[in-house]
Amino acid sequence: MAASDIPAVFILVRAAFARDVAPGYGADGVQNFLEYVSQNALALRLRKGHQTWVAEQDKAIVGVLQLRLPRHLCMLFVSPDCRYSGIARSLWALAVQSLQARGERGVVTVNSSPYAVEAYRRFGFTCDGGQTNVGGIVSQPMVFALPG
Ligand SMILES: CC(C)(COP(=O)(O)OP(=O)(O)OC[C@H]1O[C@@H](n2cnc3c(N)ncnc32)[C@H](O)[C@@H]1OP(=O)(O)O)[C@@H](O)C(=O)NCCC(=O)NCCS
Repeated sequence: MAASDIPAVFILVRAAFARDVAPGYGADGVQNFLEYVSQNALALRLRKGHQTWVAEQDKAIVGVLQLRLPRHLCMLFVSPDCRYSGIARSLWALAVQSLQARGERGVVTVNSSPYAVEAYRRFGFTCDGGQTNVGGIVSQPMVFALPG
C-alpha cells in the first residue's frame, strides 16, 4: 500500500465498519474506531512500518489488510460490495507468505470484530479468551499458529 492509497482505504474501511461493526458499538466505540482508522493514523502506521496490502478490482481498492510487526493483524476490511469472493482470504495468504518469508514462528494475534469471528475461524484462527471492550471497541481476541 502506498501513501497515495490512504484516502481510498479510509473510505473503504469506514463503509465496511459502518455497515457491519458500528451497529454493535456505542458512540464511544464508533468515535475511537474512526480515530484509529483516520487518514492521519493510517499514514502514521505506514511510516512506522506496519505492513499493508490492498486488493484492487478495476483499479479501485476493495480490500485492505495491515500487520503490526512482528505478528499482530490490526486491520482487515473488504468493501461491502465485494464480499464472499475470497478477497480477505487472498490478503491473508499474502500476509502469511510474508510472515513465513521473515521466518516468524509462534502465533499471529488479532482482535476480531464480533462480525468477523467466523471468517477468521475459516482461516484457522481460534478464540483466545473472552470478548473485550476497550473504549467501546468490542472485540474477540484470536490467535493463529504459524506453521513450522
Ligand atoms: C470479515 C471480512 C474481512 C471478510 O471478507 P471477505 O472477502 O468477504 O472474505 P472471504 O470471501 O475471503 O471469505 C473467507 C472465508 O470466510 C467466510 N466468511 C467471510 N465472511 C463471513 C461472515 N461474515 N460470516 C461467516 N463466514 C464468513 C467465507 O465463507 C470464506 O469461507 P471458506 O473459504 O471456508 O469458504 C469482511 O466481511 C469485512 O470487511 N467485514 C467487516 C469488517 C470487519 O469486521 N473486519 C474485521 C476487523 S477485525
